[in-house]
Amino acid sequence: MSKKFVLDPFGDKYAHRTSSMLSSEIRDLLAVTARRDIISLAGGLPYTQAMNPDMILGLVEEILRDDCAAALQYGPTDGYAPLKRSLVEIMREEGTPCLPEDIIVTNGAQQGLEIISKIFINPGDDIVTEAPSYVGALNSFLSYQPRIHAIPVDEEGILLDRLKETLEGLSGQGRKVKFIYTVPNFHNPAGVTMSTERRYGLLQLAEAFDCLVVEDNPYGLLRFEGEPCPTLRRLVESRVIYWGTLSKIFSAGMRIGWVAAPHPILEKLLLAKQSADLCTSSFTQRIAHLYFASQDWRGQVRQLVEIYRERRNVMLEAMEEFLSGIASWTRPQGGLFLWVTLPEFIKTSDMLASAIDAKVAYVPGRGFFPYEGGENSMRLNFSYPEPDMVWEGIKRLSKVVKREIALAKALGMEGKASGRSRTKE
Ligand SMILES: Cc1ncc(COP(=O)(O)O)c(C=O)c1O
Repeated sequence: MSKKFVLDPFGDKYAHRTSSMLSSEIRDLLAVTARRDIISLAGGLPYTQAMNPDMILGLVEEILRDDCAAALQYGPTDGYAPLKRSLVEIMREEGTPCLPEDIIVTNGAQQGLEIISKIFINPGDDIVTEAPSYVGALNSFLSYQPRIHAIPVDEEGILLDRLKETLEGLSGQGRKVKFIYTVPNFHNPAGVTMSTERRYGLLQLAEAFDCLVVEDNPYGLLRFEGEPCPTLRRLVESRVIYWGTLSKIFSAGMRIGWVAAPHPILEKLLLAKQSADLCTSSFTQRIAHLYFASQDWRGQVRQLVEIYRERRNVMLEAMEEFLSGIASWTRPQGGLFLWVTLPEFIKTSDMLASAIDAKVAYVPGRGFFPYEGGENSMRLNFSYPEPDMVWEGIKRLSKVVKREIALAKALGMEGKASGRSRTKE
């Protein structure tokens, strides 16, 4: 469907919440990155080629032979009970306590973020996110029209003094934050991991100011090095809403995520999910369950970790080789992403067209902030392209960046930092 240059005749019909939904202009540009001649460092795609198709075929056959009618039927809204037991196992792998009855299975963690927004956010409510933050979460939150307080992160995660200042400021005005949303492990997009000390500090602040904590943990098992930190749920169960997903350790295409939360919250989430989709696919839940019950999934995760670690290393080496002294970047201990910061006068959204012209793509940083920020940053993905493509991609990118800097200097643009921003309600 072509959307270009058509004045939308239905503009007066949409709900107000659609005005805060992210512009699709970047998405349109990124759509071309599926072209084979473009090295895309833009996606967040796991490397599904690592999965054996014959094994998956075997699982599907077994499911259909075992009980085809049930696999093709609706299922319970809270999820397929045997799969919940597998999810408990997966959480145990990270030392997180959980019982099957503490879990609701969702259509990916993304649906979770949408239904969390639905049950908690009234227009004008205060919530906290990290800055930058996962764009899918921001878009779900923004469509319910909250006031988002975006707290910067450094290499150890969210800045607690800034968080405290914000919570105190709001409290002084008689306002209260409903929840703090965080991606503590191998952050998307920042690539950083919250230190154990900060985890305790965050939970203490949440306790002191009576806020819930939404812990979004898609990448926790994808650690390349260093000691794992305890999940927030492991430290405090009573105010943490924990989201997991199979997207990064098994398959994003199965669309399976889950929430573990205090039971009163689960009940509300269940109602919200029921009206959204009745249930998560019975078919894919069965495939996922059989995979985790019968296959060496831990070995598969180890293999992914090996693959991603190598690609991360190549990207870091290439950054050092081609962009040292020009950009700064994070050094992720796991996950899928690197966050890159360029000189302030470079606008990564404006530069994207030139990058695509040079056959390399990235995600501009702007979309990872609710209202403003990130104009001179970008997110790079290293999990999907082969290592030599990662190297070549950074090489191409460095040429684009150097050209952009030279151009800005020639035009006397250094020191001029401006950016498009969403309006704050
Ligand atoms: C931080 C974060 N949360 C949630 C999601 C969505 O995951 P799912 O595929 O389970 O919907 C992603 C996907 O990239 C993510 O990075």
